[in-house]
Amino acid sequence: STFDLIIRGGTIATASDVFKADIGIRDGKIVQIGAALEGATEVIDATGKYVLPGGIDSHVHISQPSGEGISMADDFESGTLSALFGGNTTIMPFCLQEKGRPLREALNAYHELAEGSCYTDVSFHLIVSDASPTLLGQELAALAEEGYASFKVFMTYENLRLNDAEILKTLDVARQTGSTVMIHCENEDAIRYLVEKHEAAGDVAPRAHATTRPIAAEREATHRALTLAEIAEVPIVIVHVSNGQAMDEISRARARGLKVYSETCPQYLMLTAEDLDGMDWEGAKFVCSPPPRDKAAQEDCWRGIETGVFDLFSSDHCPFRYDDEHGKRAPKALESFRHIPNGIPGVETRMPILFSEGVMKGRIDLPRFVALTATNHARTYGLYPEKGTIAIGSDADIAIWDPSVKKTIRHADLHDGADYTPYEGVEVTGWPTTVILRGRVMIRNGELVGRKGDGQYQTARTRTL
Ligand code: URP
Ligand code: ZN
Ligand code: ZN
Ligand code: ZN
Repeated sequence: STFDLIIRGGTIATASDVFKADIGIRDGKIVQIGAALEGATEVIDATGKYVLPGGIDSHVHISQPSGEGISMADDFESGTLSALFGGNTTIMPFCLQEKGRPLREALNAYHELAEGSCYTDVSFHLIVSDASPTLLGQELAALAEEGYASFKVFMTYENLRLNDAEILKTLDVARQTGSTVMIHCENEDAIRYLVEKHEAAGDVAPRAHATTRPIAAEREATHRALTLAEIAEVPIVIVHVSNGQAMDEISRARARGLKVYSETCPQYLMLTAEDLDGMDWEGAKFVCSPPPRDKAAQEDCWRGIETGVFDLFSSDHCPFRYDDEHGKRAPKALESFRHIPNGIPGVETRMPILFSEGVMKGRIDLPRFVALTATNHARTYGLYPEKGTIAIGSDADIAIWDPSVKKTIRHADLHDGADYTPYEGVEVTGWPTTVILRGRVMIRNGELVGRKGDGQYQTARTRTL
């Protein structure tokens, strides 16, 4: 027959259009979009459903080394399975360079972990943690040319932070190679000052995590990152923006002509610092950096989603188990908030939350949803147009959303390796019930039919300036 698969009768949305049409798929690619397509081995009836590009979550942490005695709750199998059930077809985890070791070595180990284990496609970002002359002189540029075209740098965390000189050198490699640098903006010295003060006063509960990482520390670092990018003359991504003051820095930089992309995450729409106040260390479930702020900051982030301050909506999925001596309740973590592993799970709930709170509540339209959850990720990180859109020639990565599904989010129904969700009890309308990866049906009507290993590694392209 002409097609391997036809998706019939659905409402298709891309980042620019919404229209009714059938999609014809052959050899993993979209080969036709039109009315009344016929001649396929398999037909999926999408009447009354939305047919959207599969989600791309470009900010996900999987199997990342996380300090002594701490281990991440997801490996590539559980992380990508959870991503798939949340409507994603590609995730972009971070490959962390170990201090004093070549990045290549971490990359080899990471590929080995992912190989044969994935339910979605994956593509790696590189974390530059050791800005050595070898790395910045040759290794990083060589890796960029091989298709590892995005690097993350940290301005915070004792073991990861780069100083301004090191960030500038990394930015320079990005400029020369057309790669993209993601920057975690928080002022480490300011945070350390506050942490020491709170610990000395005996204030060691999870809530102090939020108190000691104030908006000012994020705002200042955001401004500094933008300034360094301006001086190095290279576009950057400001990741996980949590509040309006950091957003204002981004808008001002854009007004000066700077090319800057920015990202926010579900936690900054759905959580506040008060969630860190729980009994029995429960607040640790919500410890992430930057921390959730307050209602006003949530509203500011919604405004950024609506008006285009934000290009990317990612999960920053960084799962640790709560009731576990290797997670949020590790012995050291129970002594002080300073040692609680940073990060929260969210790869499966990212899109349903934005669909329900954003699209169904009328804050954003479907094209904006698609841009924020798929298309802009592919464009920013060199995967477009194979990934991130519904177009002839693109990979047939598709999520079929049923807007009539009503669900209460329960961790018991999710597929990640953590033992809780920060969104327990949140009611959502709409869920991706069928998910297709390069033409292969992976989830059909909520049932897993794809196999571990169906996900493949995707090489990224560098930017042409
Ligand atoms: O708390 C967080 N976000 N943990 C993940 C690491 C990072 O900074 O993105
Ligand atoms: Zn970060
Ligand atoms: Zn992160
Ligand atoms: Zn354990």
